[in-house]
Amino acid sequence: IVEQGERVFRLSISAGQKEFAPGVASPTIGVNAPYLGPTLEMRRGERVRLHVDNGLDEGATVHWHGFELPAAADGGPHQLIRPGSRWSPSFEVRQRASLYWYHSHLHRGTGPQVYAGLAAPIYVRDDEEEALDLPSEYGVDDIPLIVQDRLLDSSGRIHYPQNMHAQMMGVRGDRIYVNGTQNAVFDARTGLLRLRILNGSNARFYEFSLAEGRAMQLIASDGGLLDRPHTVRSLKLAPGERAQVIVDLSEGGPLSLVATSPDSAMGMMGGQGRGTVGGGMMNRRREDGETGEVFRILDIRLSRALRATRLPLRLVSLNAPDPSLAMRTRRLVLDMGMMGRGMTINGAAMDMDIVNERVPVGQWEIWEIANASMMAHPFHIHNAQFRVIDRDGRAPPPLETGFKDTVIVNPREQVRVLLRFEEYTDPDLPYMYHCHILEHEDAGMMGQFLVV
Ligand code: C2O
Ligand code: CU
Ligand code: CU
Repeated sequence: IVEQGERVFRLSISAGQKEFAPGVASPTIGVNAPYLGPTLEMRRGERVRLHVDNGLDEGATVHWHGFELPAAADGGPHQLIRPGSRWSPSFEVRQRASLYWYHSHLHRGTGPQVYAGLAAPIYVRDDEEEALDLPSEYGVDDIPLIVQDRLLDSSGRIHYPQNMHAQMMGVRGDRIYVNGTQNAVFDARTGLLRLRILNGSNARFYEFSLAEGRAMQLIASDGGLLDRPHTVRSLKLAPGERAQVIVDLSEGGPLSLVATSPDSAMGMMGGQGRGTVGGGMMNRRREDGETGEVFRILDIRLSRALRATRLPLRLVSLNAPDPSLAMRTRRLVLDMGMMGRGMTINGAAMDMDIVNERVPVGQWEIWEIANASMMAHPFHIHNAQFRVIDRDGRAPPPLETGFKDTVIVNPREQVRVLLRFEEYTDPDLPYMYHCHILEHEDAGMMGQFLVV
């Protein structure tokens, strides 16, 4: 069924194969491809319909991360697509121009499916952004970078560890792939290059910077443009978070984007198996928050000198979030229990049959997200682009001055966000909120809310 004026996308999920190490094929999952999937380009205001065929021999779901849409179209765990069947949601693209993404949201199986490749970017464009003179030619001066780490076994096949440590800390690999490619290189042809970075890893946090110490201009967060370009030397993204930066190549090159891995836990980072877990003892948190390892993300090559145009000084107008709009405050406490055996929100693990919160449509609310555990959690809310009010009373950093759908909550910290669900109600079908460390989500650090 297609309505007039709907733009149709056909997505077919299937098993594939990919070489993560040269000459060794690993089993993967992809969308219209052996691994990952096509970038979907949508326009704000248009109606889209997506025909999603599941060619796997297991169930799958596809969630449109960052989108405001009816709960039935959300692609969360309740929209299971059985093997061999088709799911055809349709919705209006409502949110602002930005980088979003789609990925598996299978109940208790999101971690392994995303790890196998069921994830890809979505570009939303709109008039407001196009009125600005920003690099926007896909693949030329505007490129998506899906950053993922993967672990290979001794034979060179991709490996998803199931042991308790990996599941508790979240699955991390020691090799970095960008859009599925290791040691990715980009040949730049323009003086300004726009990088749309998605941390599509299951659990690893990254702190991105340019190896040469040069600054980047941060222009957008999860939900679109910031008020103006912000000069940054480093940029931290947790799983699920996105950012857009503009890199100026007119000063010459080559240039490389690198990342360190900020410590998301109490001395327990640094790859599988390191750190002390036994007996509930944890190492002291590293003061610098880093393991010291530097990952190459992207090498940018220039074949000739390039001229840069000027970036606009102002991008969009963003009012500061006004907490006095809120009619009520909801508190959500994230916890991991002893040894990660109790991944919960407000003391309860995700239960498909329990609705945890009922939120009135159209009402401004403050959600107070508190982290009772020793590890940082990227907290994600479906069907919303929210604003960060503060973290432990402190003003948020530049990335968090815009619209967000995923926000880091550090150990023992409390983050307040302001949000409102503007339109869609459903008496039965819930949306999710959860930790975007996929192993935590799968282990129960997820809850359900109805918009009523
Ligand atoms: Cu990106 Cu509920 O997920
Ligand atoms: Cu989402
Ligand atoms: Cu978590």
